[in-house]
Amino acid sequence: MSAQHPPSAGHTVAETAPLALEVRDLLTRFVTKRVALTAVDGISIAVRRGRIMALVGESGSGKSVTGLSIMGLIDPPGQIAGGEVRVGGQRFDVTDDRQMRRLRGNRLAMIFQDPMMTLNPVLRISRQMTEAITTHHPEVTRAEARARAHSALALVGIPSPRERLDNFPHQLSGGMRQRVAIATALLNNPEVIIADEPTTALDVTIQSQILYEVERVCETHGTAFVWITHDLSVVANLAHDVTVMYAGRIVETGPVRDVLENPLHPYTRGLIDSVPDIDIRKGKLIPIAGMTPQLADLPQGCKFAPRCPLRVPECAAEPPLVTRADGRAVRCVRPLDTEPPR
Ligand SMILES: Nc1ncnc2c1ncn2[C@@H]1O[C@H](COP(=O)(O)OP(=O)(O)OP(=O)(O)O)[C@@H](O)[C@H]1O
Ligand SMILES: [Mg+2]
Repeated sequence: MSAQHPPSAGHTVAETAPLALEVRDLLTRFVTKRVALTAVDGISIAVRRGRIMALVGESGSGKSVTGLSIMGLIDPPGQIAGGEVRVGGQRFDVTDDRQMRRLRGNRLAMIFQDPMMTLNPVLRISRQMTEAITTHHPEVTRAEARARAHSALALVGIPSPRERLDNFPHQLSGGMRQRVAIATALLNNPEVIIADEPTTALDVTIQSQILYEVERVCETHGTAFVWITHDLSVVANLAHDVTVMYAGRIVETGPVRDVLENPLHPYTRGLIDSVPDIDIRKGKLIPIAGMTPQLADLPQGCKFAPRCPLRVPECAAEPPLVTRADGRAVRCVRPLDTEPPR
C-alpha cells in the first residue's frame, strides 16, 4: 500500500518560499428546506510554493467539499457562505463564477479520483490538451500548444507521448488516463493543484510511480499541492505538511513527520493507530471507537469528544484551533504532549 520511493525531504524543503495558496475561514453549507448542514466550518490552509499539503480525515469529514470550495465548484444546494482564497497573494472571490473560470485550469487546477472528470471521452488527447491551453492563452499557436502537451505527457512519465497524443482516452489504461489528467492539470503551469484521491483507484506500483512524478513536478516547477487522501502511507511518503479534518473542522496541522511521529490530537493518534502499514513493528490495529458524527446531529463542544478515550469535562466547550510556537496547531483542551494532571 505504501509508495515505494524514499520519503520526501520533509519540512526542510522551501520552508520560507512564498505562499502559493492561502485559504481563510472557508465556510460551506448544504441548505435544503429542512436543514442547513455545515460541511466545511472555518477551514484555513496555507501552502507554500513547492510544498505538498496533505488533507486527511475519515469519510465525510469534508475533504472533497474543501477542495471543491477552493476551486469554486460548489453547486446548489451547496453554497460557500464565507471565506477567502488567495492564489499567489491575489485574492479571489470563490463565488464569482467568471473570476473562478479564469483561474481554474490556469493558475489553479484540480485532479480528481476519476480521470474522466477531466478528460472528454470523445476527443483525442491532443485536442483536449491543446484546448486546455488555448482557452486561457489564445495567443498560443496550435503547434506550440501541441508541443507543450507533448512535454507535459513526457513529464509525468508517459511512454511514447507522441503516439498517445493521437489516442482517445478509452485507448489508455486507468493509470495512463490519470497521468494524462495530471499532465492536463500541469499544462498552464498552475501555482496550485488540488488533488482529490487521484491514486486511490490505481494499483500500488502505478500509484507509487505517479507519486514519484508528482514529487518531481513539485520540486522542479515549484507547484504547490493540496493532496486529499485517506492513506497515511501516501501522506508519509509524499507530503511535507498535513492537515487533519474532523466533522468539517481542522483538528490538527503541522509538518508531516512531527504529526505522524508525535500527534497532538487524540483523533490523529486514532487515525495512525487504525492503519496497518505505517510501522509494521507496531503490531495491533486499534480502530477508532464509535461512528463518524452526522453533520445534522453534531455534539456540543469538541466534536470528537464522544469517541475520545481521553475526554475530560472541559471538552463540553469546543476548543479553538491553537497555533503553537513551533508552528503546529491543534484543537484540543489537552493535547497529547501535555503533562497529565497530578
Ligand atoms: N451535494 C451534497 N448535498 C448534501 N450534503 C453533501 C453534499 N456533498 C457533500 N455533502 C456532505 O458534506 C460532508 C463532507 O463530504 P465530503 O465529500 O467533503 O467528505 P470527504 O471527507 O471527501 O469523504 P470521503 O473520504 O468519503 O471522500 C458529508 O457529510 C456529506 O454528506
Ligand atoms: Mg472525498
